[in-house]
Amino acid sequence: MRVLATRRFVGPAWDELEDVAIGSLDAARDDVEALVVANERVDQTVLERFPHLRLVANFGVGYDRIDVDACRHRGVAVTNTPGVLTDATADLTFALILAARRRLGEGERIVRSRRWTWTWSRGLLADEVTGSMLGIVGLGRIGAAVARRARGFDMRVLSLRSAGTDDQLDDLLRASDIATLHVPLTPRTRGMIDARRLALLRDGACLINTARGELIDEEALVRELVSGRIQAGLDVFADEPHVPEELLLLDNVVLTPHLGSATVRAREAMTRLVVDNVLAVLRGEPPLTPVSA
Ligand code: DGY
Repeated sequence: MRVLATRRFVGPAWDELEDVAIGSLDAARDDVEALVVANERVDQTVLERFPHLRLVANFGVGYDRIDVDACRHRGVAVTNTPGVLTDATADLTFALILAARRRLGEGERIVRSRRWTWTWSRGLLADEVTGSMLGIVGLGRIGAAVARRARGFDMRVLSLRSAGTDDQLDDLLRASDIATLHVPLTPRTRGMIDARRLALLRDGACLINTARGELIDEEALVRELVSGRIQAGLDVFADEPHVPEELLLLDNVVLTPHLGSATVRAREAMTRLVVDNVLAVLRGEPPLTPVSA
């Protein structure tokens, strides 16, 4: 077996992989040359189990759980799937903006509870998305795609190319009606939205996260949401699939289970890119979408 994958990935391209097994990364194997993972942890200990490894192909654009330096030292390439999930993730970001702002979760729960009366629906008055100020933290592919969608809603957009300087990020948070995170998780960005920064958000502001849960101090966010001062739309969490119990009881947060890239088109294209990377490396060619540390 030359390829070990942590699961079977969706789409016709998957069948082009021969000599592939589905399994965990727990057991040592000296026949494996390529690992296909979905951001499972790949560190020095895992790498030592696969002495003939040439590639770690990540199904996803974020590769924060892969020790890219350790891979490089062992001559193991690392690839991700940039570009093909940009629109899916930007769409989901906008879905969360609209759902949180227009209180769709609350409305849905009222209808399903069979307790809808006109009095109740008047209680769901919300802030408008159209014309509001959108702060985009991280203007990479996904952040830029969110900015393009914002134009259709006549939003004013503030953005930072990456995490920006401390002052720039503070200013963006102070000025935003809605702030949305689109930076990768790195030692620098981990916990960057901490209690102090959450306090900079305006009363009634909305925080959206479709990037990585660990960008936010989750305990501080829970406190801020419990206070009812802000709203949020969260697709990612610090310790997935665990979601803090308090959030499940709150109406001012919309919660989704890491759905950013979960469209048929995006997922099939991600599989295509993963398979092309694996086949290239097994043929002795350079990978198509290598990442750097
Ligand atoms: C990514 O691409 O990093 C996503 O989290 C996977 O859905």
